[in-house]
Amino acid sequence: MLFSLLQVSCNICPMSLIKISIANRCRRAFKIIVCCAASGLIFTARADNAANTNAAPGWHILDNLGAPAWDGKILSYHGSQGTLAIIPLSDDVIRVRFTSAQEFGRDHSYAVINQDPGAPTVSAKIDNDIATLRTASLEVTVRQSPLRISFANTNGEVMDADDAQFGTSLSSDGSFRVAKELPDDAHVYGLGEKSGVLDKRGWKLGGYDYVMWNSDTFGYDSGTDPMYVSVPFYMVMRNGEAHGIFLDNTWRSFFDIGHEQQGLLNFGAAGGELNYYFINGPEPKKVVERYTQLTGHMPLPPLWALGYNQCRYSYYPEARVRRLADTFRKEQVPADVIWLDIHYQDNYKPFTWNLQRFPNPQKMLSDLRAQGFHVVTIVDPHPKVEKGYAPYDEGTAGDYFVKNPDGSTYEGPVWPSNAETNPGPSVFPDFSNPTARRWYGSLYKGFIDMGVAGIWNDMDEPAVFKTPTGTMPLDTVFDNEGQPTTQREIHNVYGQLMSRSTYEGLLQLRSNERPFVLTRASYAGGQRYAAVWPGDNTSDWSSLRQSVPMLLGMGLSGFSYVGCDIGGFAGSPDGELYSRWLQMDVFYPFMRSHSTQGSPDKEPWDWGKAFEAINKRSIELRYELLPYIYNTMHQASETGLPALRPLFLEFPHDRDVTGTDNEFMFGDSLLVSPVLVQGETNHAVYLPKGDWFDYWTGQKFSGRTNIQMAVTLDSIPMFVRGGGFIFRQPVIQFTGQMPGNPLEVLVAPARESSASFYEDDGESLDYRSGQFMKRQFRQTSDDRGMTVEISGPEGSYRPAVRALILETWMARAPKGVSAQIGGAPLEKLSGWSYRNGLLRIKVNDTFQATRIVIEK
Ligand code: GLC
Repeated sequence: MLFSLLQVSCNICPMSLIKISIANRCRRAFKIIVCCAASGLIFTARADNAANTNAAPGWHILDNLGAPAWDGKILSYHGSQGTLAIIPLSDDVIRVRFTSAQEFGRDHSYAVINQDPGAPTVSAKIDNDIATLRTASLEVTVRQSPLRISFANTNGEVMDADDAQFGTSLSSDGSFRVAKELPDDAHVYGLGEKSGVLDKRGWKLGGYDYVMWNSDTFGYDSGTDPMYVSVPFYMVMRNGEAHGIFLDNTWRSFFDIGHEQQGLLNFGAAGGELNYYFINGPEPKKVVERYTQLTGHMPLPPLWALGYNQCRYSYYPEARVRRLADTFRKEQVPADVIWLDIHYQDNYKPFTWNLQRFPNPQKMLSDLRAQGFHVVTIVDPHPKVEKGYAPYDEGTAGDYFVKNPDGSTYEGPVWPSNAETNPGPSVFPDFSNPTARRWYGSLYKGFIDMGVAGIWNDMDEPAVFKTPTGTMPLDTVFDNEGQPTTQREIHNVYGQLMSRSTYEGLLQLRSNERPFVLTRASYAGGQRYAAVWPGDNTSDWSSLRQSVPMLLGMGLSGFSYVGCDIGGFAGSPDGELYSRWLQMDVFYPFMRSHSTQGSPDKEPWDWGKAFEAINKRSIELRYELLPYIYNTMHQASETGLPALRPLFLEFPHDRDVTGTDNEFMFGDSLLVSPVLVQGETNHAVYLPKGDWFDYWTGQKFSGRTNIQMAVTLDSIPMFVRGGGFIFRQPVIQFTGQMPGNPLEVLVAPARESSASFYEDDGESLDYRSGQFMKRQFRQTSDDRGMTVEISGPEGSYRPAVRALILETWMARAPKGVSAQIGGAPLEKLSGWSYRNGLLRIKVNDTFQATRIVIEK
């Protein structure tokens, strides 16, 4: 008889600890659902039999691969069980590659675009049973018999080690697994789009296990796994020091984080090469930066896409869409984007319009553009089987579709099989074939020419209806960039490759415009092509709460441009839930309301005037903060650091935040603690080390403290870090109104701090050739006052003439304010006001070096 004891501590109401003891007599796994009565949060956990599969029949542990050879770049082993290479790519990144074959196959990756992140200085020492590689930051030890690998820092402190008993195991069916030690004090994060909690170590006893297999998971809950996206990357943090492991393998893979055995972290895949990267920190930010150096950064999005997006399944006919646009403008609720879901198409066929519903799409798009709206249309990966329909005819002629093993074209039912008239099956472009990828990307031409602004790729897991697996058969055949394989290997990367086809297609068609692509499915590295939203969530409080750890995990895994359906896709939120969701999504990089077919609309004014005012205020806050948001997204595009950050990323040495996933940082200066609980009136916030200022009142708090604050329906608890700079602006109705709008710079006092602020035209690629403006802002404060220095600009872009308004909180009105602009002498300023503790100083933004001195 086996016993498991699970303890769940609720993150929202830390006092409630739920303990469950289960006598597990049978050999089958089972699911437990726990509902915390206080928070309404639902935890779902799978509990398995505790037998160790490392030692299961059919598996053998990798033993002795013989003596190594070091050629100055690669440490290689060739033995009867296979071939191993340890490759230092930089001082901080080590690649481990193993195949059970005698030679490595093609070295190919859909994720890694940079195999050369830095020239390492490596010394090798080869003894009888042990080989050691030393770089400037790491020591890699490979024990020969039995084969075990470990990574230590230069102090000899082991960060990551193969488990002494199990090491690496291979199965006769081509699967492999690696068992690593998981110390008791290790926290594990990442793994991309995963439900549950932020720290994947999770349960006090028995961790979590996760699978990577892109899946269409309508109405998922906190225990649903796998989901739409696969990112086989995790970060381990102990005592504030972090490292990462990226398993670059697109096959079905799994990650067992202390679940099967408390002290073991197992990962593996159903086939392909064992190919992983050890990524050093020790700061967790460094791990994310180095991981995204390998797999790429999100491109800078167009500014309009960072505004408010309104979607439903589906807005039609044209009159409905126009009414929607008019209502936004009439109600003065800011918005930039209207989305068209599958009903705009002719019988759900990609690249078509239903001309009864939308008789003149081009005219509609240009009229909407004149009102300041951009339109994004859905385009799925499944052209209908229909002679005379160009995407089908051309794709057939070009031989671009996924094949059955017998060479015939695979056909399966998706949306076109549900069409009201003339339903039929679909074919699926083989996006792993570069020619097919380019071809599908070129099909957007008609849409682009008529004024469609961005593309939404959905169902790209790929989802197939009426099959038990929800996708294509595993033996369907793909080109795989010239080395044919089956869906087993391509499935997880299909969505990433579809969004690549779209991104590259749009870039080709509009060579100086930033593409905007949203995808549901993706794989590691997919951040280079598209924003991601985690599909079909549900209109309940649990789904709202769950989105925070999920999106924080995405950000840690390279995907910075993320956001979930506001209000929940499936179901119908009440006014309170919708408003809370919208308030939280002000800080989700992608901000879109969406609603499933047949459910009530989820528009900001749908719950009566009182809620409309609250919702309008939330969207206005988004537009006020856009300069800060854009600056943060620019930083993400350059460094890979996500906009949405778990507290531990900013405060790795604060032991109280290792599992915090009900509040987060947006960028480096704003801490957001959204209200996630129905009916809450008293809200608990944890503030890490340092000074914090309530964004709304300027009230100062000293960190490493828990505070309680009264909240009402319109409260959005948020705090500015001492020394933080918040770049903002007065409300506008859409991003096209930004030129000429004043730039407001809110500075939270600290002894000394600085920030850089980036601007450009918001839509073209000219920034790549220097047409941007970047300025450094620096402040110093003491008892006598505050000085703010703004550097002269870097880059050749200059915004339209506007005012610059410097704001800061002060206990009393200042004695005086003076400014020095360009080379001019310091002059007293009269253009300032002081009200309710906030000082506002107005100058012309001349884009010259400026110094503003505030005397207390
Ligand atoms: C899928 C998408 C959803 C979309 C629907 C119809 O369920 O996840 O967002 O509205 O398909 O296209």
